[in-house]
This record gives sequence, structure tokens and C-alpha cells, in this order.
Amino acid sequence: IDIKTLRSATGGVTTIDPGYKNTGSCESAITFLDGEKGILRYRGYSIEELADKADFLEVAYLLIFGELPTQAQLDKFHADIKEQSVVDEDVKKILDAFPKSAHPMGVLSSLTSALTAFNPSSVNVESEEDMYKAIVKILGKFPVLVAWTLRKKQGLPLDYGDKNLGYVENILKMMFKQPNEEYKQNPILVNALDKLLILHADHEQNCSTSTVRIVGSAHTSLFASLSSGISALWGPLHGGANQAVLEMLNGIQEDGGDTKKYMAKAKDKNDPFRLMGFGHRVYKNFDPRAKIIKVAADEVLSDLGIEDPILDIAKGLEKEALEDKYFVDRKLYPNVDFYSGIIYRGMGIPTDMFTVMFALGRLPGWIAQWREMRLRKEPIGRPRQVYIGENRRDFKDIKNR
Ligand code: ACO
Repeated sequence: IDIKTLRSATGGVTTIDPGYKNTGSCESAITFLDGEKGILRYRGYSIEELADKADFLEVAYLLIFGELPTQAQLDKFHADIKEQSVVDEDVKKILDAFPKSAHPMGVLSSLTSALTAFNPSSVNVESEEDMYKAIVKILGKFPVLVAWTLRKKQGLPLDYGDKNLGYVENILKMMFKQPNEEYKQNPILVNALDKLLILHADHEQNCSTSTVRIVGSAHTSLFASLSSGISALWGPLHGGANQAVLEMLNGIQEDGGDTKKYMAKAKDKNDPFRLMGFGHRVYKNFDPRAKIIKVAADEVLSDLGIEDPILDIAKGLEKEALEDKYFVDRKLYPNVDFYSGIIYRGMGIPTDMFTVMFALGRLPGWIAQWREMRLRKEPIGRPRQVYIGENRRDFKDIKNR
């Protein structure tokens, strides 16, 4: 049954589905997800294979344009992005105006929206060519905003890294280069970040992606739509979980490392505590991304020679949860965010930047979904409701209330 027939067949009937647990919001050819079997594919390619064999920019191209790029296509894509990897000098002034205590996700969301003002030509996209220009602009400028958000917090001078480097290599350089020191690339970090970004790159109609699509469905500009997606991602039930996981693991460690105590808290319905990094709306068997990240966390920490007691606490919690009736009955397994923070921490990324790193990875997915929505000329997103308020009432003068 096609969507038009379905729409006319259901015209006049409003369904209520809080949290959209059983409601499809669109047809999409980008990401396939089977939550029961733990399968995730981008454009038909398995996440395991992509994480192992592709790099992040290739995956970005694949998600956005539907096919893996040839070398020539990839080179052109990268060159177009590099050309756009600068931001207006006045963006620095906006960044300067934020207090040091500002959460990086708030800063990033504001700066991304502000880019609209500095790039008016990206606002109205009428053709695929206009779209392409807006896409390479944001893929160029977003990593700059991410790196500068970090550097501003750390009081480091802002710069653009080195355009001769690969996309991910330059992100690391822009983030970590210290003044008066030569920055040496560490292939372990490049590989780990590449993998993490690929694993986060798309996940069909999650909260932030649905936000980007619904905001974009009003033909709001790409950058403003992405800014809304960043805000949605910020929440601890979504992308903010990676920060929350690490804070939780730190808390458990400081409290003596008694994982059983926290398992009991998570199961206590009178206690608001949840085991962060556990559970997923769609995965009811395992999250394939978590499997890959767990192995990567082990590798990265041992390659870097780091022994992190937090990793042991995480593994302990996972083991206990897998054997616990409450978690088994509710099909609660570690999700992508459970181990990612441990790698970010090993890489020297501060905890409050974790969700920003997630946004960096999710950027191509948001763009691909926005582009698909616009190319398919989807109608404005506008859910209905079932009204449960008062019936018509007569107005009461203020003296008589
Ligand atoms: N710890 C303890 N209990 C949990 C957890 C958890 N992490 N997650 C779900 N439950 C319980 C609920 O209390 C509920 O129990 P009940 O049936 O006895 O009432 C049951 O499992 C179902 O949970 P819901 O909240 O209804 O599931 P929903 O699909 O709405 O939520 C979510 C999914 C938000 C991911 C949830 O599992 C959660 O809050 N997890 C922790 C936060 C987290 O890790 N978020 C990241 C998700 S991945 C991502 O966005 C990248």
C-alpha cells in the first residue's frame, strides 16, 4: 500500500501513539535497522563492514548520496569541503560571548544556527546543486565549530589545523594542537575516532533525526534544522547518555565500586536512577554498535597504555545486567553510548564534549535524512492530537474568578 492510499484510507482517524513507538514517520532508503536481530546497515552495507573497511568521509558520502564514492568522487567531495572549512571572523566574537561554564552542546547548537546568518545563500535550496553547496559548507564548518568550542573552554588559540590532512586527522589536530608545539598524529586515535564517527553516523528516525526532518519539513534552512537536531541530541535519554554514562561510572567508582548497589537502584521503581547506556527503543537483543565499540575500547586503551578502572566497572555492570532477570525480561542491553565515553576519555576528550563528538558523527546522517525529505517533497510535519481539556466555557471577569 502506498503512502497516498494509506493517507486517504485513514483520513479522519487520529491514532494516539505516545513516543511514536509504532508510528512510521516516513519512507526512507538510508538506514536499515532490525532491532530483534541486532542488524544495522547504511544503504545496504553492514555497520561491521563499514566500521572495519571504510573511512568516515566515505561513509558520509554513502549516506548522503546513496552509493560508495569512487576515488575521484571522494577527492572532489573532500576538496569541496576543505574549501568551506573556514568560518566568518565574527563567529569568534559570538563564541567569546559565551561564559566558560556554558555546556558545549548549547554553544554548538547556537553557533550552527548562527552560521545561517553568515551564509544566506544556504537558506533557500531550490535545486540539488544548492543542496550540495549547503552540504559541503556545513561539513566543512561544523568540525571547526566543534574544535573551537573545545579550545575556547580550554583557553587555547583558535585555528584551522592543516587542510592537507585527512578529514578526521584534521579534526584531531584542530582540537588538540598546543601552541608552540608540533602536533604529531597518533594513528591509533585517528582510527578510533574514524570508527566512532562511522558508528554514530546514522540511526534512522531517532529523536534528533526526526527533529531535523520535522523542522526541515517547514523548509527551514539546513543549518537551523541541524541546530534543532543538536538540541534534541543533547538530552540524557538520547545522545547526552554518553556523558551521563561516564558520570555514572565515575560516581560508582568514587562510591567504592559496588556495582550491585547500583543494579539494585536501577531496578527500584521508587528510585529515579536508571543504568545509563542501557536500553534502546529499537534494539531488543543487542546493539551491534555497542559490540564493536566494546572491542575498540579495549584496543584503544591497551594501545595507548592506559589502564582505566572505569572500564572494569563498565564490564562488571554489563555482566551483571546480562544475568539479571529485570534486565533480561525488559531486553535491556548496553547501547552505543555505554562504551564510547571510555574511548573518548582515553583520547583526552573532556566529558562534557562527548555528546558534541556524537553530533560530529551524526552530522552526515542528519544531512542525508534532510536531503531525502526535501528531494521526496515531503509535506510539512504536523501531528494531530486528541483534545482532553475543558469544553466550551463562558469567560469570567477577573473580579469574579
Ligand atoms: N535502567 C533501568 N531500567 C530501565 C532502563 C535503564 N537504563 N531503560 C529502561 N528501563 C525499564 C523501564 O523502567 C521500563 O520498565 P517497566 O516496564 O517496569 O516500567 C522498561 O525498562 C521499558 O523502558 P522504557 O523507558 O519504556 O523504554 P523506552 O523505549 O521508552 O526508552 C531509553 C528507551 C530512553 C533508551 C531507555 O532505555 C533509557 O532511558 N535508557 C537509559 C538512557 C540511555 O542510555 N539512552 C541512550 C539511548 S541510545 C541513543 O540515543 C544513542
